[in-house]
Amino acid sequence: MIKISKLPLAEGDGDTLVYFVREKKGGAPKMADREVSAYLKKARVLGDFKGQAGRNLLYYRDRPATSGSSKVRPERVIVVGLGKEEPTPELFREAGGQAATVAMGTRAVRLRVALPEAMGGLSIAAQAGALAEGLILGSYRFTKYKKNREDELEPEEGQLREIVIHGEDDRDLTREVKRGLVAGLAVRAARDMANEPGNHWTPGHFARAARRLAKEHGLTCKVYDRVALKKLGMGGILGVSQGSAQPPTLVALEYHGGRSQDPTLLLVGKGLTFDSGGISLKPGAGMQDMKFDMCGGAAVLAVMQALAELKPSGVNVAALVPASENLLGPASLKPGDIISQYSGKTVEVVNTDAEGRLLLADALAFGVKKYRPRAVVDIATLTGAVIIGLGHYRTGLMSNDDALASQLLDSGERCGEPLWRLPLDREYLKQLKSEVADLRNVGSDRAAGTLAAGCFLQEFVGDTPWAHLDIAGTAWDFTKKSYVPKGPSGVGVRTLLDLVLNWRELQG
Ligand code: BES
Ligand code: MN
Ligand code: ZN
Repeated sequence: MIKISKLPLAEGDGDTLVYFVREKKGGAPKMADREVSAYLKKARVLGDFKGQAGRNLLYYRDRPATSGSSKVRPERVIVVGLGKEEPTPELFREAGGQAATVAMGTRAVRLRVALPEAMGGLSIAAQAGALAEGLILGSYRFTKYKKNREDELEPEEGQLREIVIHGEDDRDLTREVKRGLVAGLAVRAARDMANEPGNHWTPGHFARAARRLAKEHGLTCKVYDRVALKKLGMGGILGVSQGSAQPPTLVALEYHGGRSQDPTLLLVGKGLTFDSGGISLKPGAGMQDMKFDMCGGAAVLAVMQALAELKPSGVNVAALVPASENLLGPASLKPGDIISQYSGKTVEVVNTDAEGRLLLADALAFGVKKYRPRAVVDIATLTGAVIIGLGHYRTGLMSNDDALASQLLDSGERCGEPLWRLPLDREYLKQLKSEVADLRNVGSDRAAGTLAAGCFLQEFVGDTPWAHLDIAGTAWDFTKKSYVPKGPSGVGVRTLLDLVLNWRELQG
């Protein structure tokens, strides 16, 4: 869907040309013909547009004469500003997202993109990769269940069928564009899973999706059903699911990129396909958003899809998605019930709405034992409290290992998915002391709810370097960005992929 062409732009067809320009005096974009340059000059003189970041220009030109070929030359032209600040990958992702957004507001289908010249410290390859990522991410829409479109200009999923990037066809550029494309498509897959409502995306759908991924890409897949979970003693996953007609599952996928002595990273994603709160029922307002409580699980599957396509060497990755609904019925867990987790620890379930940690506890302990990973990262829409603390921009990071935490902070920064590390002092664990079991699943008040959840999880990973990403604030309603349309953001996919691709051995 994204291709690179070394043909000059004038030789290409398609219906829309896309240019990117810096905000500088009299600068015309690379590959601009006389006509585009003249238009830009006019816009600059009139003060309408001079290449400011976040601004753009859309105009229509006469169909240019075709020099003997039968190809139709684009009549629609989009120019996106890049501003004058030092360029970063994020600037190019945003610019790509903007070009996609403008194009999606028209009937554009086939884009021809003129790669700008190298600028600042960024290579052409890095720019092109980020642009490709932004174009793919920004053109995402989910319209599957809209049978009546309001008007014919309403953007439709899959509208941009072809994007051709015109630039030098060298190896670095090809590799970076492929990485951007694969990362972008993985994020779109995660958004697709998340957008499916609870009746169309159940724990069984996670199992099916994982099996399909494994079959298409040669990953190893194993699905643990209710009977298997019982045998293994996964009291957390079983307990949460017992009020639901949909059976729970634990999905395991493995990517083998290395020799067996290469390190294994373990990823664990919360897959609550709907969270009503259970007997500790949530308030009705906004409850429909709890179909997104599986965004962590979706992110983890999406990362595996990207790894299977990029095939990095020297690292093995295992993924676990514990999946369940959290509903209320005659068989549901009740406040005060005591369950026994996979690790053997017992938990007093004081609040059935703190269900994510019960599932993750089983999966974390199981994964640490089974894979003996060098590091484990879990990702979950775990606490409303993280929204109070960090809002919808930074994801909450908690970790027992400084080196792992710093690698994740770097990855998040590079990907435009910033994290903020929160503390896990033993002091915060005290609120989870139970009179009747090893732990209770919530504190006695709302103090430091995100940290209490983090401390709870830490009890199940032993000494393994571990990090926990609380994406309750960022998995949807993410801070407005051109390449993050409304709805689920797919946050975490690119950060975790970046972590794996840039994995450095943990010191000490
Ligand atoms: N899935 C929710 C957390 C959540 C809330 C995610 C809002 C996104 C938006 C989680 O299962 C939950 O209900 N957590 C409780 C914990 C509480 C009972 C200690 C919460 O945050 O209210
Ligand atoms: Mn809940
Ligand atoms: Zn939940």
